[in-house]
Amino acid sequence: MYRTKTCGELRLSDAGTTVTLAGWVQRLRKMGGMTFVDLRDRYGITQIVFNNEVNADLCEAANHLGREYVVQVTGTVSERSNKNANLPTGDIEIIAGQLCVLNPSEIPPFTIEDDTDGGDDLRMKYRYLDLRRTAVRKNLELRHKMTMEVRRYLDSKGFLEIETPMLVGSTPEGARDFVVPSRMNQGQFYALPQSPQTLKQLLMVSGMDRYFQIVKCFRDEDLRADRQPEFTQIDCEMSYVHQDDIINLFEGMAKHLFKEIRGIELTEPFQRMPWAEAMKYYGSDKPDLRFGMKFVELMDILKGYGFSVFDNAEYIGGICAKGAASYTRKQIDQLTEFVKRPQIGAKGMVYARIEADGTVKSSVDKFYSQDVLAKVKEAFAAEPGDLILILSGDDAMKTRKQLCELRLEMGNRLGLRDKNQFACLWVVDFPMFEWSDEEQRLMAMHHPFTHPKDEDIALLDTDPAAVRADAYDMVINGVEVGGGSIRIHDSKLQAKMFEILGFTPEKAQEQFGFLMNAFKFGAPPHGGLAYGLDRWVSLFAGLDSIRDCIAFPKNNSGRDVMLDAPAALDQKQLDELALKIDIKE
Ligand code: AMO
Repeated sequence: MYRTKTCGELRLSDAGTTVTLAGWVQRLRKMGGMTFVDLRDRYGITQIVFNNEVNADLCEAANHLGREYVVQVTGTVSERSNKNANLPTGDIEIIAGQLCVLNPSEIPPFTIEDDTDGGDDLRMKYRYLDLRRTAVRKNLELRHKMTMEVRRYLDSKGFLEIETPMLVGSTPEGARDFVVPSRMNQGQFYALPQSPQTLKQLLMVSGMDRYFQIVKCFRDEDLRADRQPEFTQIDCEMSYVHQDDIINLFEGMAKHLFKEIRGIELTEPFQRMPWAEAMKYYGSDKPDLRFGMKFVELMDILKGYGFSVFDNAEYIGGICAKGAASYTRKQIDQLTEFVKRPQIGAKGMVYARIEADGTVKSSVDKFYSQDVLAKVKEAFAAEPGDLILILSGDDAMKTRKQLCELRLEMGNRLGLRDKNQFACLWVVDFPMFEWSDEEQRLMAMHHPFTHPKDEDIALLDTDPAAVRADAYDMVINGVEVGGGSIRIHDSKLQAKMFEILGFTPEKAQEQFGFLMNAFKFGAPPHGGLAYGLDRWVSLFAGLDSIRDCIAFPKNNSGRDVMLDAPAALDQKQLDELALKIDIKE
């Protein structure tokens, strides 16, 4: 037997017993005639003691151990005189009787401890060593626990876990596909699924009734803290359901996860907010509702006083930061610089402070009397000590998005975005389409299989941009953790949708013939949702990036620096695939 116990399980009650442990040498300290080794495995750390006076040869052998050596130690569990309250095993140590080096180790490129000296790039290059660190390992343990609970919940609701293929054809979901060349079908390519969307719909046509899959999805899009090119969805689909059935069942799953993973009992129904309201009051389809600071529109109050920036604006709106009137000139300048950063793009920012006597001191006092400023104050129900921040612009949607960034920044600065508080909501009634400047046409906001709201179907012919969809997203703390919709199950309506999206009937048939044909053979009404597993785990673990809950993630350029992928193919492989590389400078 390599071991009789793990490095995390011995307690005072085990004192006097003989045990064998195996693990990695985290640290070695020599003190007087003693050598202390911290032995680590997945379960914890146990202190091993080698006593020169008792066994000089053994102690000498221990002195030659290096960091990350893999060793096996047999010894007696003994009460420590110097207890370590920070370790679950801190009451005991092992007085070593035998030591066997199972495998030596080179000096690791960084110290493998909670506080590591390894930078990001180094840790990613040696990710297998990084994963030995408790913090990273804990995230993977949490992830495992989540998937177990997801399976338990969905199984209890009658869902079948069904795998769908990874080598599929391309289906547009808004991102670019990763493609795979076919050797047996030269010049032709598979696409890796952006999601199993159409396949799960086909499973409904097959009568599977309730499907789920914890599934890898692939999207070739720009990366951010909450985006990876390959990520995992908890993908679900149900037949004979309305929007409320799906929302209720998956809200139940969210509550189940909160309870089982975080010990938080959420008893109230999640708020449901129409998309139009989210955009109007928060400038975002994923508002962070851990704090207020709702937008207030000020067009009626502030236009027409000769301040040309506002007089020419299509939108003027602001937020009120409670208690921030004490902000210094420097802090306000920092905020102005923040909104002017190219990623945000505002031209400037106006502020109004509510003084202790209730009067308003603003950066545009020159143009506005106290009477007008009092109306601004009233519009926000602002009180002495509050700071009002105002943005304006000639594009209402863009300006709202800028104000959204400012609101989130103020939330951060005022400490209102506590990672241990959770604000959950459903954003509902999304528009069916959105205009794409790049493509110069309407695009599906969710995907082309989303069902329009029944009452809006008539608008498909007259005013498609006004059509709302039976689509919903779940948002927690400003993160979109899932989304779904009721689907179209009627081949004629689906054909119409493709037409509005600019597909010719031939093109639609070529790309989606399989789905439209399937709908001719008795497709049940159906709908579903997909949760983003990586985002859920990072939310529960309080992580800033989903990378930290993925065993082997990609970096910001989409590279796996450990595997050095992607990489060029050798000529033989290219020839087999009939591929020629033609990189333009
Ligand atoms: P959607 O595209 O909204 O819907 O994706 C569902 C959820 O997956 C997560 N997600 C991501 N997580 C990490 N990295 C990414 N690049 C990434 N992209 C998406 C988000 C998102 O809410 N087929 C539909 C679902 C449906 O309609 O049933 C779909 O894929 O948390």
